[in-house]
Amino acid sequence: MRIVVFNGSPRAEKGNTHIMVEEFLSGAKEAGAETENIFLVKKSIKYCLGCFDCWIKTPGECIIKDDMKEMLLKFIETDIVVFATPLYVDNVTGIMKNFMDRLIPLLDPYFKKDENGECRHTNRNFKSPKIIVISNSGFPEQSHFQVLQLLFRRIAKNMHSEVIAEIYRGGGEILRNKMLILAPFINSYKKYLQKAGKEIVENLKLSDETIAKLEKPIIPDEQYIKGANKSWDKTLARIKNKL
Ligand SMILES: Cc1cc2nc3c(=O)[nH]c(=O)nc-3n(C[C@H](O)[C@H](O)[C@H](O)COP(=O)(O)O)c2cc1C
Repeated sequence: MRIVVFNGSPRAEKGNTHIMVEEFLSGAKEAGAETENIFLVKKSIKYCLGCFDCWIKTPGECIIKDDMKEMLLKFIETDIVVFATPLYVDNVTGIMKNFMDRLIPLLDPYFKKDENGECRHTNRNFKSPKIIVISNSGFPEQSHFQVLQLLFRRIAKNMHSEVIAEIYRGGGEILRNKMLILAPFINSYKKYLQKAGKEIVENLKLSDETIAKLEKPIIPDEQYIKGANKSWDKTLARIKNKL
């Protein structure tokens, strides 16, 4: 099984999203998957021009000459794609959105009603990879991912695919916290990310136990909020003292 991660965080390997991806992939690799981890911020991916040339003049191919040509090949040559993104303004990052818009050459222009009576574009001749979503947010509650949940379900329909797992972590800023007192809680969460990677390779889905563990806050929300505000106090005081 091949798994390709497209990570839309501008922080790339320094990001909290990457911490989640790394653990997930280590479990998947241990279970025998071949994996690739792509930082979209390091690629040249310009925004879609809306010209529809990829449907008319050069079917299946975008006229913009940048790294998206290589990304499209990676997208269609894998069994599973992971959309990994931090939550930005309740949504994916701009980097990820540019990437998603540029997936359009994979579809045909024609309209066809799906089983729910809603129009989709027909699929160009390729096997759609299954979809996994990995995201984290600054706010601690899991409810902040409501938009992503709906968005990726709809994207999966558009791409003639399905979402097989969603791993959302509210309060994700804690993941790169180096305070020793937090280590056991963060490490325990990481173990379940690894288990998730393994389960996907073995069963193409997450077990109820893993889902429940991954949904639980790493530390209680109140503690996280207190820590976050204290850290903002310190950061802002440091900056003020320098001015
Ligand atoms: C421009 C911007 C918008 C953000 N919007 C949200 C938001 O709507 N909700 C939220 O909980 N966190 C928000 N965050 C916080 C990020 O989701 C959080 O810092 C996350 O850990 C970043 O992941 P990364 O380190 O992988 O980039 C935002 C951060 C930035 C920079």
